[in-house]
Amino acid sequence: VEHGGELHAGMELTVEPPPVDAPLRAAVMTLSDKGFAGERVDTSGPRAAQLLSEAGYDVEELVLLPDAQKKIERELIRLADSRQVDLIITTGGTGFSLRDVTPEATLAVATRTAPGIAEAIRAESLKITPRAMLSRGASVLRNKTLIVNLPGSTKAVEEGLAVILPQLEHGLRILKGTAHDCARK
Ligand code: MTE
Repeated sequence: VEHGGELHAGMELTVEPPPVDAPLRAAVMTLSDKGFAGERVDTSGPRAAQLLSEAGYDVEELVLLPDAQKKIERELIRLADSRQVDLIITTGGTGFSLRDVTPEATLAVATRTAPGIAEAIRAESLKITPRAMLSRGASVLRNKTLIVNLPGSTKAVEEGLAVILPQLEHGLRILKGTAHDCARK
């Protein structure tokens, strides 16, 4: 404020608005024992990153981890709390194998539920393959970060992202506090 700090009638204090349309920031995490051991090339993680980039996200990290619950939890916490990405997409580890623990790691770091995203992925995926019922993938919030589990195949990643990407930005902008209006487009 000029003039010695006095406020005069009609003067407005202006505060810089947050950059409403700054790109959303994402990270992709592949969970695969074989991928981590170098016995299989991970194509699902890079495909998820590519689709997110094409949708306008800044993909800041692509992480490859074995199916180890504590390691997955630590990495989710780092990406959410330190990196503060808006979105974490995981691929793999959602099935019935005893090694599949991605949903458990995801639920363990959640601060709030967001089940509708996983429900939508399964519902739409069931129209493509009945085996979609075998994915235990979860979707949760950790503070201001949304975490979504997708199955491990590149095909499932493409199908899952096709379901959620059109609706995700609106939810993430509300989560960030830069959008409030739910008027339907
Ligand atoms: N969902 C979609 N959209 N497309 C798929 O091909 N594969 C299913 C299911 N969900 C699939 C899908 C299969 S065969 C399995 S076993 C589960 O996801 C779990 O996969 P994951 O263990 O790689 O996470």
